[in-house]
Amino acid sequence: MPAPAPEASTKPRHVAIIMDGNGRWAAARGRPRALGHRLGVQAARRVVRAASERDVPVLSLFAFSQENWRRPEREVRMLIHLFGRTLRREAEGLRSNNVRMRFIGSREAFPASLRREMEGVESLTAGNNGLQLLVALGYGGQWDICHAAECARRDGVPIDHESLSERLSTADFPPPDLLIRTGGEYRISNFMLWQLAYAELRFVETLWPDFDADDLDQALTWYAQRQRRFGMVAEA
Ligand code: FPP
Repeated sequence: MPAPAPEASTKPRHVAIIMDGNGRWAAARGRPRALGHRLGVQAARRVVRAASERDVPVLSLFAFSQENWRRPEREVRMLIHLFGRTLRREAEGLRSNNVRMRFIGSREAFPASLRREMEGVESLTAGNNGLQLLVALGYGGQWDICHAAECARRDGVPIDHESLSERLSTADFPPPDLLIRTGGEYRISNFMLWQLAYAELRFVETLWPDFDADDLDQALTWYAQRQRRFGMVAEA
């Protein structure tokens, strides 16, 4: 049995973003990749604020994939340090702006200090009911599906649409209606493979450090004009 068709609406309930192009932004200016990543954090900050102001219910940001562990060790270490510092700096602002932050992905490989920062900001913002911010760290769409199937097997339930949906890392949220990928690449890169089944896909050339509230507005306007059919025929 296919899942019931979701309600179509002009406003996305969930916006997911593959933030790409930090390295190229820096390379184009002859600057270190680390600078591109630091400005990538500023862009993430702008977009979280803009999404919150526009009453987007759920925003997901793909910050570190399972494949990113294959980057040079130095860059991985720098990113882990940057994530920890960002969480420490932003935690209180997220709390006071009614943003609830949660992480999806496999945390095991991250240092205990970063895992503690992640748990800290999750519990600090747990009572917030404004923007639900999901940050994918150590995440992979294939991992998410395998993990859900493993949980279903352990729980002794049949593996079907419902049992897997309930066990995915995004189980508490609607699937993304709109996916934005910056940086001019036209691929999903193992992000939310199950959840993106019916998402509208928007690919933009803008490199992530340049992405701002206007770019988000353009994506929301574009989304509002899409005709979503979920496998059915268009209404007369
Ligand atoms: C994208 O550019 C880089 C990443 C997805 C990793 C780090 C992300 C950030 C620093 C944004 C911070 C977000 C939060 C929520 C902490 P790339 O390195 O893949 O760029 P390239 O394709 O140009 O090399």
